[in-house]
Amino acid sequence: MKVQLILNGDDLALSGEPRDSLFAVLQQRAGLFPERVCCEQGDCGRCHILLDGKEVPSCLIPFFQVREQEVVSPEGFQNTEEYRQFRALLEEEGLVHCTECTEVQIFHLFSFLEQFPQADAEECRLAIGEIPCRCGSKPVLERGARRWLASRPWPVVGREVPRGHH
Ligand code: FES
Ligand code: FES
Repeated sequence: MKVQLILNGDDLALSGEPRDSLFAVLQQRAGLFPERVCCEQGDCGRCHILLDGKEVPSCLIPFFQVREQEVVSPEGFQNTEEYRQFRALLEEEGLVHCTECTEVQIFHLFSFLEQFPQADAEECRLAIGEIPCRCGSKPVLERGARRWLASRPWPVVGREVPRGHH
């Protein structure tokens, strides 16, 4: 089965089986999420992507459902100027590189901040907590989130974090 989609800005067709998850196809056919240990059950957050602008776990999305949709993975986000600026800010706060999930943490946090630019410190902390991390990076991410939001132009047009988001 072939599915046409836009992946990190490229219009392409990917092949897979009807029962495949989007994660499986992206990892096996598109070379994304390399060497990453993932739960494939919606728990670890390491397979997150943006699907038509909404952050979702790709392991829970059936491959056949993404026909003609736009997918951005952490690898695609890494090619943007926003990524470079956000990462530089996190490095100033003391970001330590963790092969398993630093890039996912950055991707997830940035997606959250873009979606909820009026989030307060507690909401940022809860969002950061959605991706398990035992390496001590969370305080760095929390400081980075606060600085990023404080640096945004005002007024910010955004949505409140809905109940149940976390
Ligand atoms: S692989 Fe863990 S949430 Fe998808
Ligand atoms: S960022 Fe990977 S364990 Fe903390």
